Amino acid sequence: MPIPKAELHLHIEGTLEPEMAFALAHRNNLTLPYTDVEDLRRAYSFTDLQSFLDLYYALMDVLRTEADFTDLANAYLTRAATQGVRHAEIFFDPQAHTSRGISIDTVINGLTAALHDSERTHNISTTLILCFLRDRPAQEALDTLHQARPHLEHIHAVGLDSAEIGNPPEKFTEVFTTARDMGLHRVAHAGEEGPASYIWQALNLLGAQRIDHGIRCLDDPHLVQHLATTQTPLTVCPLSNVRLKAVPSLDQHPLPALLDAGLLITINSDDPSYFGGYVHDNYQAVHTHLGLTQHQLRQLARNSFTASFLTPERKAQLIAQVDAHPW
Ligand code: ADE
Ligand code: ZN
Repeated sequence: MPIPKAELHLHIEGTLEPEMAFALAHRNNLTLPYTDVEDLRRAYSFTDLQSFLDLYYALMDVLRTEADFTDLANAYLTRAATQGVRHAEIFFDPQAHTSRGISIDTVINGLTAALHDSERTHNISTTLILCFLRDRPAQEALDTLHQARPHLEHIHAVGLDSAEIGNPPEKFTEVFTTARDMGLHRVAHAGEEGPASYIWQALNLLGAQRIDHGIRCLDDPHLVQHLATTQTPLTVCPLSNVRLKAVPSLDQHPLPALLDAGLLITINSDDPSYFGGYVHDNYQAVHTHLGLTQHQLRQLARNSFTASFLTPERKAQLIAQVDAHPW
């Protein structure tokens, strides 16, 4: 069994496997513009973040009913359990659904129907992170936050995702301040394709407690020093970075440099259905291609719990499970 770990950077919509896309299309009487699963898989060839996002949003059209979201989340949990996941802080993109006429209640009720029982059925504790789409207006993000109010017991944090370049975090300062005042934690994608200055903005203007991706911090030594001193976690997604060409190849991934700099790094899967692997596959990939040792992988697994929003007691319990794990 893979080492126990938390998944902190996982878009639930990015777990939609081609087989499920076809099954849901059939159930909802929709026709996908692909002849079959293989034909769809051939479309999973990306040149950058935007080329992925175009397919990611288009395929979401098959998600229509509460049952669709429940099935999606259940399929993810089943897979995650086989990857050693014991805790998952799961992103979802409400605006990608409300903009298609699907209510936020349908989305959240559907997801929580799968998540509420996951500790018992899969031995995985879960929380939801509501992400705002940064390429849409800030006012729409604020409206989305208000629509989510009746569901706040299920939502621990807000996040920021979608097309990064040209959509700096500063655009969402008011939304994140409101979220903080509502008692929510804050995370943000920054420095995936965008510059190190976006990471500074996420920290200083949004009050981000974790940076999602963050690999471009290496362009700014002062920022690296700051992230190391504050031990602000980075949720790094190696297979994603290669598939979206944020880095040229796995062997050239900056993970070793990030670790050498003393940063609190976690390994995650981002959109596993699209990027060729779930979270443990990412651990294995950095072992194989970057030569990370079992000692380093164990530390990354510990980090995943340290960087989570779990209570100190639960973190300690789960870290003890990491330490007890035999290879
Ligand atoms: N939405 C889903 N995956 C994403 C990623 N890797 N970056 C930004 N937005 C996303
Ligand atoms: Zn992401």
